[in-house]
Amino acid sequence: MYCYPVAPPNESEWSELRSRARSATQRSYAPYSGVRVGAAGLSDNGTVVEGSNIENASYGLTLCAECSLVSDLVRTGGGRLVAISIVAGDHAPISPCGRCRQVLYEHGGAELLLDAGEGLAPKRLAELLPDAFGPEDLPTRKDS
Ligand code: THU
Repeated sequence: MYCYPVAPPNESEWSELRSRARSATQRSYAPYSGVRVGAAGLSDNGTVVEGSNIENASYGLTLCAECSLVSDLVRTGGGRLVAISIVAGDHAPISPCGRCRQVLYEHGGAELLLDAGEGLAPKRLAELLPDAFGPEDLPTRKDS
């Protein structure tokens, strides 16, 4: 089982993540949907990474805030995500889309904590993506 190399965030650290996610909504590019999304995540190396959604005229090529955050994570030296806050322009937490759940799983695993809002217990990614397929499955599933 995955163990946290750093402690999960306390309430004031969650507040900091929420605040950084809210700021990131201001750097979103969402001219088509008008839904600005920001994300901030804590890595097990102690860094905080951020992302914003980046839409595209083709619609289908839109990058969600979580994908943008994972890009920031890898670009700044990687590490495993421990906790993440994703908020929309109304400043309330939003649930990641299906694709982002899988992308987050790769970089945080089942124990990644997702913000559910102030005063609410965070959710584990395992709750949002049960029985996930991940990198650990690949070596054992080769059939040739
Ligand atoms: N969006 C995110 O950035 N993350 C999510 O988890 C849900 C949706 C963005 C994509 C698009 O730019 C806008 O929200 C409306 O779907």
